[in-house]
Amino acid sequence: MKKTLLLMATLLMSYVSLAQEAYRPTAENLKAREQFQDEKFGIFLHWGLYSMIGAGEWVMNNWNINYREYPKLAKAFYPSDFNADAWVSAIKASGAKYITITTRHHDGFSLFKTAVSTYNSVDATPFKRDIIKELADACKRHDIKLHLYYSHLDWGREDYPMGRTGRGTGRSAEKADWSAYYRFMNMQLTELLTHYGPVGAIWFDGWWDHDSDAKPFDWQLPEQYAMIHKLQPQCLIGNNHHQIPNAGEDIQIFERDLPGENKAGLSGQSISRLPLESCQTINDHWGYSITDSNYKKPKELIHMLVRAAGKNANLLLNIGPEPSGDLPALALDRLKAIGEWMNRYGNTIYGTRGGIVAPHDWGVSTQRGNRLYIHILDCQDANLFIPLGGRKVKRASVYATGKRMNYTKTGDGITLNLGKVPTDIDYIVELTL
Ligand code: GLC
Repeated sequence: MKKTLLLMATLLMSYVSLAQEAYRPTAENLKAREQFQDEKFGIFLHWGLYSMIGAGEWVMNNWNINYREYPKLAKAFYPSDFNADAWVSAIKASGAKYITITTRHHDGFSLFKTAVSTYNSVDATPFKRDIIKELADACKRHDIKLHLYYSHLDWGREDYPMGRTGRGTGRSAEKADWSAYYRFMNMQLTELLTHYGPVGAIWFDGWWDHDSDAKPFDWQLPEQYAMIHKLQPQCLIGNNHHQIPNAGEDIQIFERDLPGENKAGLSGQSISRLPLESCQTINDHWGYSITDSNYKKPKELIHMLVRAAGKNANLLLNIGPEPSGDLPALALDRLKAIGEWMNRYGNTIYGTRGGIVAPHDWGVSTQRGNRLYIHILDCQDANLFIPLGGRKVKRASVYATGKRMNYTKTGDGITLNLGKVPTDIDYIVELTL
């Protein structure tokens, strides 16, 4: 009996791993990946009941708020200023090409009408509006893509098998029922993929809640991913698990770091060949924090975007909208500044890939065909050596003015004669190869 069971288990496992290896992205999916890489810049929005407390999206866990008390916030959820068109036009003016919004974060509250739980913005609040629907419609009107964040973990539902976070919310672990919870998630995902038009990506988060289980936790991702790709083949799947990507995933996500850097401690994984995305906070929080006005300066944000592009990655820059439904004034200010820069220099970012010159402390390169853009972000000298691995340069010019730039051939590259130490946010030199 034991032997038969073992055999069955082994067969099942090899079937699952076969299914994983067998993932072949469709032509639509491959095309969407290219477009995603061309887009380069998205805005992340963390919004939910937690925004009302103003202490970040982890407040339920951090304050050990009881799972029966926390939902009472829903009764006061009335973001009277919420205007999806206002959000989308401010975001679009920043040059971002897509918006990723939290449809349901770890607190379990859904920002959309769902048939499988009344704990959502339509049924549980006096506001009674489907935030995702309004945002999806506005995105369509403004021609910007919509990506949907979805939490795998839940701090409020009793059927969710408790992981290493949200242990102080008072749920009993005994009622855990993985198959009920898995069904619930798949029904919600089906709603998200059938009620709101084309979805650019599903952005999963929370896998790590079970990364320390004694017995490895099976999230049944291959089946869930297959379901998503069946509903919308072009929909990209990303999972913020901080691991190398699993089969079925279409993009690789890095949290708070650029690929290959690991300052925040969540990005030690190696870089795959999938399209890359780095998500970063605009201040120090994802969800609205009433005490956090530590917004990064426009220059720092532009450098983030440029350095991401130079590393062949997209930047997904986060904003935490206020309880009123407004985007914070400081966030609007930063969106405007990035937009002004992108209006002038976006051509050196959109549609490019990381260039043949590897990232350096002084800056990065981006490339489209035979045009190589040298982004000088931090250089203390008036001359700069550009290693080109022997590639010949036909012409060098200052991108902003189009004027020729002098250079001399040095070793396997060239030395640019910048004339003076550059002080621009990003001094861009265009090389024609
Ligand atoms: C983390 C956090 C989460 C946030 C996400 C964004 O995984 O748990 O609150 O939504 O990062 O990258």
